[in-house]
Amino acid sequence: MRRVIVAGNWKMNKTAKEAAKFISELKPLVADVKKTGIVIGTPFTALESAVKEAAGSNVKIAAQNMNPNDNGAYTGEISPLMLKDLGVEYVILGHSERREYYGETDKFINEKVKAALKHGLKPILCVGEKLEERENGTTEKVVKEQTVGGLEGISAADMANVVIAYEPVWAIGTGKTASPAQAQEVHAFIRKLLTDLYGAEVAENVTVQYGGSMKADNAFELISQKDIDGGLVGGASLEAGSFAEIIKAGDSI
Ligand code: PGA
Repeated sequence: MRRVIVAGNWKMNKTAKEAAKFISELKPLVADVKKTGIVIGTPFTALESAVKEAAGSNVKIAAQNMNPNDNGAYTGEISPLMLKDLGVEYVILGHSERREYYGETDKFINEKVKAALKHGLKPILCVGEKLEERENGTTEKVVKEQTVGGLEGISAADMANVVIAYEPVWAIGTGKTASPAQAQEVHAFIRKLLTDLYGAEVAENVTVQYGGSMKADNAFELISQKDIDGGLVGGASLEAGSFAEIIKAGDSI
């Protein structure tokens, strides 16, 4: 059966010291959590201290981006080898902010997904429609393009290490959450796409998270939906107490 995973996406927040302090506060709050996967996506500069502070606990660390190449003339970039070297386990790829502000395409994101898997990192592939796409009825088309594009050339065996995050762009950082029914509808659609690509057995085992204004008071209802397997949490992951509540909501299902 697929696993519920609650991942924090800190975006451009917290220094290395602040990351260590946060994780030392979070650990005792979630020490009893056994079923639910706990991941924190920190800035590159905080990864090392986060990995050290999380060592031996149930908290795993993610990067928020990655260059697909092993090394070379890519000024300012970070490679999968560098992330592996630090002990990072997950990498968030294709977040809507990267698509929007840095022009990332499905093709480039697909290269990153492949590179992550090649180096033993678990990608969290983000997909989701913008407000105007929802309003003009192209949600499924957009989510299909991003999901199929992001997973091109990924084998069924590799899907055991892939997490998908459905994040409607209009719900990110806006306080406007998709209703549980709205989110479930798209999650079921993604599950169907995965079934078409890989068969039902593989599709049933892929963790598909919801992201977009998930908070302690809506997490349980969202994660209770049949095809919602946790969350990718931005704002509400910045404070240990509220993030722990979301994790526990996921673990109680
Ligand atoms: P939010 O961000 O929880 O602040 O809406 C989610 C995300 O961007 O991953």
